[in-house]
Amino acid sequence: MKVCVVGSGGREHALAHVLGRSAEVVVTPGNPGIAGSTSVPATEITADLYVIGPEAPLVAGLADKLRGRGKLVFGPGADGARLEGSKAWMKELLVSAGVPTAAHGTFTSEVAALRFLDTLGDLFVIKTDGLASGKGVLVTQDRAEATAAVRAYLAGDAFGEAGKKIVIEEGLSGPELSVLAVCDGTHAVALAPAQDYKRIGEGDVGANTGGMGAYSPVPEATSAMVQEVMSDAVLPTLAALCSRGINYRGVLYAGLMLTPQGIKVLEYNVRFGDPEAQVVLPRLRSDLAELLAQAAQGCLSHEPAYGDDAAVTVVCASKGYPRTPRVGDVISGIEAANHQDGVKVFCAGVASQPAKSSVGTKSPVGHSNSLVTAGGRVLSVTGQGPSLEVARTRAYQGVTQIGWQGCYFRRDIAKVATAAPVVVSSSEAHSEREKI
Ligand code: AMP
Ligand code: GLY
Repeated sequence: MKVCVVGSGGREHALAHVLGRSAEVVVTPGNPGIAGSTSVPATEITADLYVIGPEAPLVAGLADKLRGRGKLVFGPGADGARLEGSKAWMKELLVSAGVPTAAHGTFTSEVAALRFLDTLGDLFVIKTDGLASGKGVLVTQDRAEATAAVRAYLAGDAFGEAGKKIVIEEGLSGPELSVLAVCDGTHAVALAPAQDYKRIGEGDVGANTGGMGAYSPVPEATSAMVQEVMSDAVLPTLAALCSRGINYRGVLYAGLMLTPQGIKVLEYNVRFGDPEAQVVLPRLRSDLAELLAQAAQGCLSHEPAYGDDAAVTVVCASKGYPRTPRVGDVISGIEAANHQDGVKVFCAGVASQPAKSSVGTKSPVGHSNSLVTAGGRVLSVTGQGPSLEVARTRAYQGVTQIGWQGCYFRRDIAKVATAAPVVVSSSEAHSEREKI
């Protein structure tokens, strides 16, 4: 089978890596750290299956375009992708389907929005309706900050058009969990649960990011809990989509909070999580290409199989991420990390620094070009092993091989889930490590 993966981040690298166990894979546009990357657009590539990684092309209707040409596609059409493209629409669908979620209001008017803030307790949650690269959510106890955010969002000053409609929610509390389900339009099967880390700083402080690390399995996420998420959230959502004529074939990623009142859906994403994919996919024992092709055909036949192993991934970000990521710093150590037992580096915000003799070529890591940072989340280092402790140790051993000026990573990924202390040497391996 030939599979075309669309996207250019760590998630797409993980997809390509795991699909590559059984399929020929091409990635568009990919990046210079992913073998098989090409600048040829998906619409001009002939493949047996197309797997669309990021939300933006899904929301823009790439899956519909490819299906319109008779292609087999894993990823929802623009109609289903509205779950992520419009938080207001997603909340309305959840309420209509009886899926537990935070109480909310949707607003385009400042007066009504500020009045709604008065009805809330001491935690205010303000979200852009539209896509904002995972950064459009403000959670604050400070009423003045909430008021200022409402004004800035609605005026278009904070997130442009994406924020001119907002969702305001009651503040919930509790541990968070992501459950990713593979859907074929009417059936859904759960992948292994993963825990991700959204904040930039250790101890979950500082700005929200796309995700700074993840681990899987999640010891607290029992199979009974996953079943509950499937029966109370994912399946009713799929049924509600069906009843609106939406044939949802792709990943339904439920971002959940385990509140004292039970499990509540915070958000849906319409694609694999990044960096959750970098831990959930490598652990898969089933044939990923076959699983995704079955979902794309509307005929899922079996649950994905997992072993008892574990995976931990640590995102290495460029200096200044998430506000003003610096680009152009030379990256070292990817090959050395990949040579370590149970370690795999997934490349995201990287570009090649052309050697004089090879200007214009796009070659995978290890060839004549060296890589430089080209985005916020530069790469993620996944460690796999028989337990979370071993996986975590391996991931951080991989990270110590990697370096560039200003490389930043959190040292507490999966720490709560493991007892083993991890020693991360910063000064020997790197010239500079940024503290936030
Ligand atoms: P979202 O993109 O909607 O998942 O929101 C990003 C993050 O904001 C979540 O992972 C939570 O940490 C936090 N969050 C979102 N909604 C709420 C809520 N209603 N109450 C408390 N925290 C929330
Ligand atoms: N890790 C969060 C996301 O992919 O949206």
